[in-house]
Amino acid sequence: MAERIEWLADGTPYSPRFGDRYRSELGGLAQSREVFLRGCGLPEAWAHQPQWRILETGFGLGLNFLVTWQAWKADPARPRLLHFVSTEAFPASAADMLRAAAAHPELMPLAQQLQAQCWGLLPGVHRLVFEEGRVLLSLCIGDTQAVLREQSFEADAVYLDGFSPSKNPDIWDLHTLKAVARCCRRGTRIASWTIARAVLDGLAQCGFVVRKTPGLPPKRDNLQGEFDPRWEPRKAMRFSAVNPTSCVVIGGGLAGAAAAASLARRGWQVEVLDAHDAPAGGASGLPAGVLVPHVSPDDSLLSRLSRCGVRATWQQAEALLQAGSDWQASGVLERRLDGSAGLAPDWPEAGRAWSDIADAAQRAEAGLEADAGPACWHPRAGWIKPARLVQALLAQPGIRWRGGFRAAALRRNLETGHWTVFDAQGKTLAQAALVVLAAGHASRLLVEGGLPLQAIRGQMSWGLHDDVPDTAAFPPFVVNGSGSFIPAVPTDQGLAWLAGASFQRDQDSAETRAHEQTANLERLQALLPGAAQALAPVFDNGSAKAWAGVRCASPDRLPLVGAVDPAGQAGLWLSTAMGSRGLSFAVLSGELLAARLHSEPLPLELRLAQALSASRFLR
Ligand SMILES: Cc1cc2nc3c(=O)[nH]c(=O)nc-3n(C[C@H](O)[C@H](O)[C@H](O)COP(=O)(O)OP(=O)(O)OC[C@H]3O[C@@H](n4cnc5c(N)ncnc54)[C@H](O)[C@@H]3O)c2cc1C
Ligand SMILES: C[S@@+](CC[C@H](N)C(=O)[O-])C[C@H]1O[C@@H](n2cnc3c(N)ncnc32)[C@H](O)[C@@H]1O
Repeated sequence: MAERIEWLADGTPYSPRFGDRYRSELGGLAQSREVFLRGCGLPEAWAHQPQWRILETGFGLGLNFLVTWQAWKADPARPRLLHFVSTEAFPASAADMLRAAAAHPELMPLAQQLQAQCWGLLPGVHRLVFEEGRVLLSLCIGDTQAVLREQSFEADAVYLDGFSPSKNPDIWDLHTLKAVARCCRRGTRIASWTIARAVLDGLAQCGFVVRKTPGLPPKRDNLQGEFDPRWEPRKAMRFSAVNPTSCVVIGGGLAGAAAAASLARRGWQVEVLDAHDAPAGGASGLPAGVLVPHVSPDDSLLSRLSRCGVRATWQQAEALLQAGSDWQASGVLERRLDGSAGLAPDWPEAGRAWSDIADAAQRAEAGLEADAGPACWHPRAGWIKPARLVQALLAQPGIRWRGGFRAAALRRNLETGHWTVFDAQGKTLAQAALVVLAAGHASRLLVEGGLPLQAIRGQMSWGLHDDVPDTAAFPPFVVNGSGSFIPAVPTDQGLAWLAGASFQRDQDSAETRAHEQTANLERLQALLPGAAQALAPVFDNGSAKAWAGVRCASPDRLPLVGAVDPAGQAGLWLSTAMGSRGLSFAVLSGELLAARLHSEPLPLELRLAQALSASRFLR
């Protein structure tokens, strides 16, 4: 359940849990601007910086975020990227966030965008993306002390904004302030509206130098300060800051295009080299694929990762693609053919925005019999044409496409630190300070000592509705389980259906094979007997077409993302091994790679990011 909020007669939001108001009697805007923005020296402090990173304790109704975003928007000297990381143990509903902003019409356009992305706020990190990826909100859902352990970055400014310390002591206690201090560098500015003795003492103990400053009348004092400990702060393992210069991405599929877009947004000049003439010539040339979260009764690491990934791709699809022709948020019905329910018995309300038990109407629309076994419904799911997403990502400013070049070797100049990319004849293809390998399973050939990547061939069957005698048994949405069925995708030749896919380990051939068409029909028979029956004549008469490609997987089936050498010194990075989930993982992986490279706030929990570490299989 979303946090219950009461609205006082004067329109102020009030928390029955804490017995306190969400904003001061002065009004939210004045408090946000005076106490927090000005208290942290903003906007002057961020002028002309490449990035600015704000950490807030207590997201509440998002007013401080909206005011900061508005100030960023209005400032011609704004940083290229604004990171706002905020913690919240009891997330309010999106509707309440919007209602709280209603008193401030100038914030409403921003509040509406915030509301649209505030869904499915399960515990963990949720990366919300605004302003074409230049304003990034990382909502860390959970207790502040715990969630800050799942981040790894240095804040430039900190807003401390819990309820009153007497009513909400844990957000101000020494352990929480220590967790905040771990996210600070020497000079990080800090601001709050409370000057409670315990808070002042706690901050001083954690290395902050703080002072009381005059408050807005009738309030007497506010708190301002900076992190300046008498000791040398312990450094977490982070890469030293890099200045964006030139970069080569090898591979122009989903993984390479997403990494290129994330880097270009941060100011890198990116060349994308690919052996094919046109983008998405490899596995990402799949005519259409399924974007869907993974579920498991214990909400496994893969399930949590997949949700972060689906959110990241969803945002890019909404921002860059044409709904209905490039992608469709049709929802996905997942048959649990092994009989398991998929979701944990105590699956929370917030989780239902992601996945739920399919209801009778959804089952009926899929044509499932009453005894067909369990099924889940995923509302934030659908199909995407991967090549369209690749093209849209590569069209971002700062990216240059160079097709028809196959990289055969890489060499690093130890004096300059720069990389040279050679073809098989030893001709120089490109030179850059940073190389990102996103060449699918071919990436293994370009890393000294190799990489444990497996090629997994797959074939889809597809055809046109016009060739099917009767499509009445087709469901109105994607169905997956064992394999998947995408009922209706518009193409140049007419409406198409897709069914697949085969899964052949250690095979790297992309030629199509007749017997795999038969296997796809058999798979469909188990998944959706009605659709299989309707399509049987099409398979029989040979009008079902085939598309094949080669997936790339790591030994634990999770992507490899990050620096090849654990210290990140060498400038050789990876984003590959997307397995059968490139649509769920590639965009997230691009953002994770960029976040690691720049020591930025992470778009997912640290333990999930560590599970993807590129160096985990390297000696
Ligand atoms: C049949 C099938 C069905 C699938 N269905 C789904 C689905 O429903 N949902 C989903 O999320 N995923 C699905 N996938 C997986 C998805 O297609 C992949 O995970 C994704 O496309 C991988 O993207 P990538 O960029 O890592 O690799 P690729 O798209 O293969 O890109 C690698 C690129 O590197 C280039 N390259 C290779 N070697 C070199 C070199 N030496 N020099 C220069 N360039 C080089 C290649 O030309 C290629 O363009 C499916 C895959 C298959 C095969
Ligand atoms: C005063 S409100 C924050 C107002 C908010 N900054 C805004 O601009 O709308 C305090 C918030 O802290 C949250 N909170 C309280 N204790 C917390 C904790 N230990 N960790 C994370 N959030 C907490 C409350 O749920 C509440 O939303």
